[in-house]
Amino acid sequence: MELTAAIEKRCSIRRFKPTPVEKAKLDRVLASGMRAPSWGNTQPWRFIVVQDKERREAIAKAAGQPFLNAPVLIVCCGVADDFSRKHHRQTLAQLRDLGVMEWDDNMLDNVVLGSDAYAPYRLGQQAMTIRAGEQIMIAVAYMTLEAVNQGLGTCWVGAITPKEVHKEMNLPDSVFVHTLLPIGYPDEDPKPRPRRDAKEIIFWEKYG
Ligand SMILES: Cc1cc2nc3c(=O)[nH]c(=O)nc-3n(C[C@H](O)[C@H](O)[C@H](O)COP(=O)(O)O)c2cc1C
Repeated sequence: MELTAAIEKRCSIRRFKPTPVEKAKLDRVLASGMRAPSWGNTQPWRFIVVQDKERREAIAKAAGQPFLNAPVLIVCCGVADDFSRKHHRQTLAQLRDLGVMEWDDNMLDNVVLGSDAYAPYRLGQQAMTIRAGEQIMIAVAYMTLEAVNQGLGTCWVGAITPKEVHKEMNLPDSVFVHTLLPIGYPDEDPKPRPRRDAKEIIFWEKYG
């Protein structure tokens, strides 16, 4: 499917057929998520694919969103520590070694990783978690579009109780739960939901 058509077709699907989703399609959705750009190529996302019905129901209940009935539930998680100085340096050095940036070690260690603007670890754990969450959202956006391309539907589910899901899934402390992404064949064909008028949103050359 052409990209613009996929963007226009995507809308949140909240009713799914019980038809299982083919593994090849799921693999493609996940691969597209992994192609998303991320700050310093840190890729702080982790995706846990849950298909077992009982597990899905337990997670949905823990999340406070028991309506989730898709045959696949991707629990989209993050690792704030991917923004630690050590990990961030590794991914930046990899980009540098590929010739993406022309940085010597002094520039990398003292200017880039010494800057509050470039290096979230300098602003503390909360900033690292927020940054990790932002990157996850880009990957989820890619997955929602690839799902449409594969004839599937998704609904981004952010209104959850992440700590309860964390507990239910027995995740390590280093991993946080961000979003749930149910995926399956749509059992509804909703009209596109309204968007604000472009006049409110888009400005050319100057605001207002
Ligand atoms: C970050 C985020 C969190 C969302 N959380 C929920 C949610 O918890 N439950 C839900 O039913 N929809 C959720 N949505 C879907 C929005 O309600 C939906 O995108 C919006 O109403 C526009 O509709 P559309 O996606 O069909 O274009 C979320 C969307 C985003 C981007």
